[in-house]
Amino acid sequence: MHQSLSPCQIDPVRLHVLLGQASRRFSVETLRECSSTSTLLLERARQAAPSGLLLVADRQTAGRGRRGRRWLSSPEGALTFSLLWRFAGNVAQLAGLSLAVGVAVARALEASGVSKIGLKWPNDILFDGGKLGGILVELESAPGSMLAVIGIGLNLQLPAADTEEFLHRPAALAQALSPVPDRHQLLAQLLIELAAILDRFSAAGFSALRDEWQAHHVWQDRQVRLLNGGLLDREGICLGADADGALLLRTATGIERCLSGDLSLRAA
Ligand code: ATP
Ligand code: BTN
Repeated sequence: MHQSLSPCQIDPVRLHVLLGQASRRFSVETLRECSSTSTLLLERARQAAPSGLLLVADRQTAGRGRRGRRWLSSPEGALTFSLLWRFAGNVAQLAGLSLAVGVAVARALEASGVSKIGLKWPNDILFDGGKLGGILVELESAPGSMLAVIGIGLNLQLPAADTEEFLHRPAALAQALSPVPDRHQLLAQLLIELAAILDRFSAAGFSALRDEWQAHHVWQDRQVRLLNGGLLDREGICLGADADGALLLRTATGIERCLSGDLSLRAA
């Protein structure tokens, strides 16, 4: 039976048309409400769901950021989705995947008319110094391969200020573009860029995308502090990312590579 779509819900048929050639790479499921598209997709991935499965939700009741932090969104004010992608090889070959996804998001937003998208290691999408979106990449090994659940949340409108004490000031596409792009067009553009980037990443790793990431990197050559669990871990000049996606810091003792996903980058 045909289920009627809520006003905000993505229409898979319309998305299919906008995706054109790229539509064969994805199978799209839209949900009015779920806990978290990433939580749900991880469960589906463990039950052998195919690469390219995309879950898009109007409303998440338990949207997740890194380290169990909350991700807030409203149906009319955000785009929240997760994509399952399977890779040959082992976990080492997926180093820098979160950064590569950032490049795809930057390309898609710039193609949609936003200029000056910034990327912050390891997973933030910035506009005008505020957090426009976030990327949550979760990896698991499967027999002879790896799977990645790539969760992306983007603010079309600013999230309500009274709902959370934000660590960083949020930003929204509405501050960059008027009118805000149609959600179907935006999602199609994001998926087209993601397919291209994920192919490139599978073939050549993050090193092939590093220059483009660096070009968007907001802390390049600036004095920064790295926090671990809120405490100062290291301090130095941020040199960007290396070919494996590790953050490079010039400290008093030389150039250090920082890989842990538990680290948070701040201005010094
Ligand atoms: P870090 O520098 O440690 O990565 P972060 O703020 O980027 O800090 P994440 O775990 O990546 O932390 O993202 C989750 C955080 O994002 C939440 O703790 C909250 O402060 C913030 N947040 C939640 N929802 C939104 C939103 N819609 N827009 C902007 N920021 C949000
Ligand atoms: C971050 O900045 O920490 C990452 C935020 C990622 C949010 C997206 S929204 C779609 C997907 N489902 C989730 O629960 N999280 C990701």
